[in-house]
Amino acid sequence: HPPTAATPFDVPRPAVRPRRLRRTPALRRLVAETRVSGADLVLPMFVKEGLTEPAPVPSMPGVLQHTRDSLRKAAREAVEAGVGGLMLFAVPAQKDAEGSGATDPGGALNTAVADLVAEVGDATTVMADLCLDEFTDHGHCGVLAADGSVDNDATLDRYAAMAVALAEAGTHLVGPSGMMDGQVRAVRTALDAAGHTGVGVLAYAAKYASAFFGPFRDAVDSSLTGDRRTYQMDPANGAEALREVALDVAEGADAVMVKPALSYLDVVRRTADAVDVPVAAYQVSGEYAMVEAAAARGWIERDRAIAETLTSIRRAGASIILTYWAVEAARELS
Ligand code: PBG
Repeated sequence: HPPTAATPFDVPRPAVRPRRLRRTPALRRLVAETRVSGADLVLPMFVKEGLTEPAPVPSMPGVLQHTRDSLRKAAREAVEAGVGGLMLFAVPAQKDAEGSGATDPGGALNTAVADLVAEVGDATTVMADLCLDEFTDHGHCGVLAADGSVDNDATLDRYAAMAVALAEAGTHLVGPSGMMDGQVRAVRTALDAAGHTGVGVLAYAAKYASAFFGPFRDAVDSSLTGDRRTYQMDPANGAEALREVALDVAEGADAVMVKPALSYLDVVRRTADAVDVPVAAYQVSGEYAMVEAAAARGWIERDRAIAETLTSIRRAGASIILTYWAVEAARELS
């Protein structure tokens, strides 16, 4: 290459040209290192006791609080779209200090699990969030001690009972999300003692005290007034996440989760490199709301942004992604 008119210098020409593999859509598709498929995606769903019509969640456009009937219908649609699983949350009609609704076989979550298992059977994986926060009148993930602090060990007993109730309702996996110390061992021991050795534990292992859970608290009519910083992790910490993950695996977790996803992709990567169980990441309510809100204003290209976030979570090492876009994305990807 002789110097061009644009430059009098003999600018060296590259011998290696990575752009060759980006030249056409087919080439780019051929060399893509990361693919997301519907089977990797888990749809979180909300059911609210006593609802007669599905209710939109204002801070999560497109997401509904379901009635028992609409939940079954939406679950069927999700399965038909090819999603890999459903993660169920319930809003009970009544809350109390112990979160008794969580362990009541006729309670909102246990009933919904049984409904879903009846509706979709083994055609997808039914998972239930195992936590007390939707069921307690103070909104914390555990029961409180006399001084108002969250009582770790008393909470473990409640989680153990909740795990058994969810297993009896037919859940395939339970997702303990309260970040109490020893929760995975407590849940595993209780499940085994009750004969539910086949029910697995997807542990929310590294769950951060995050501002990105904001819209979720609307979705579950949260009663929380304070915050969860005495049990959820400090966003500043990465090595501590590995300790939490290692503990959960040692306690019997079948799979581990990092949550939220987008601000914690380094944690997802470190976790995926450290363990040999499946790693899930939860693209939480605030991550969904940010993209939807910006897209509604025309400030971001919605579909590309969704695909890019899912791809980056997968690239960081998550094999399972919980996302409120699961159904739409699964359809898009099939
Ligand atoms: C606890 C739980 C929360 C979320 C999932 N499980 C709320 C919290 O920890 O405050 C948040 C999910 C989301 O923001 O999408 N039951």
